[in-house]
Amino acid sequence: ETALKEVATTFSVGMAVQTSRLTGDYLTILTKEFDQITAEWEMKMSVMYPSSAGYDFTRADELVEFAETNGLEIHGHSLIWHNSTPAWVEDFAGTDAEFEAMVKDYIITTVTRYKGKIKSWDVVNEAFEDGSGSLRNSVFRQKMGDDYIEKCYKWTREADPDVLIFYNDYNMTTDASKLGSTIDMAEDFIARDVPIDGIGFQMHISYNGPDRATIESAAKKVTDTGLMLHFSELDIRANPNNDMSELTVQRAVDLQEKYKEVVEIYNAIPEESKFALTVWGLRDQDTWLIDFWGHQDWPLMYNNDFSVKKAHTGFLEGL
Ligand code: XIL
Repeated sequence: ETALKEVATTFSVGMAVQTSRLTGDYLTILTKEFDQITAEWEMKMSVMYPSSAGYDFTRADELVEFAETNGLEIHGHSLIWHNSTPAWVEDFAGTDAEFEAMVKDYIITTVTRYKGKIKSWDVVNEAFEDGSGSLRNSVFRQKMGDDYIEKCYKWTREADPDVLIFYNDYNMTTDASKLGSTIDMAEDFIARDVPIDGIGFQMHISYNGPDRATIESAAKKVTDTGLMLHFSELDIRANPNNDMSELTVQRAVDLQEKYKEVVEIYNAIPEESKFALTVWGLRDQDTWLIDFWGHQDWPLMYNNDFSVKKAHTGFLEGL
């Protein structure tokens, strides 16, 4: 089959990678099919700033070097995320002013280090609560105030005037209050010249939902603001209910249809709003979902033996 990146001419095709996997067929397929990578964990705060003793950019550097050598773009993910905050930051020993100075130094240092090498950053990931759209009460909010997000975005822009700044979150197509809060924040930032270039929909979805109209209308809310839209972490669960008895050939065909549908939706958004469509892993066994949900699933486009699934055909059919 033709390479995904050759068929997708108006946006980048991205994949989440782990440094330890960058050899053999994984490496060959990655460079053949994809234009862009996202670090699955190597560019999170718990990794880059593991202790108050200092930064550790070993793994992030390795990935950036790898991407440069192989001509891949890098989407940076993610500077601030409540789920990858190192323990010493959660239990910060110091004043609120010292906390804020520490976060500022972390962002300026990291963004400056990769200036000109990283195309875009998810600066803040998952800031809003499920169901209410209110700000999650993370340690960043507690110590820096409700405006912690815009502070982080301004420091990012200060460190790299050209890097694209994204806000990324999950359930964006199904949680109206979360999407609403995101759009309100984005419009407020645009009105006050706080830097923001795009919104990421993670797109951890299932074969049976959300449906096309739901995804399309959420996407339109973003593109109506004039910002870019990234489908940033696509995977499609074929087995959301851990019902092994219903796993039929038909289910695999449905996944082909769903991949096709998502790609069609992304491809149809206005050209200036497109950025990248990123899948969250290569082979089914690489998926985070099995650990996360505690049961089997097959959410990606490649089988464990590196052969293509029907989902891959679906992706190509969507273009
Ligand atoms: C996940 C990775 O896939 C795992 O390997 C890691 O242990 C935890 O994080 N939303 C995000 C991603 O923004 O960073 C998460 O990635 C999946 C959910």
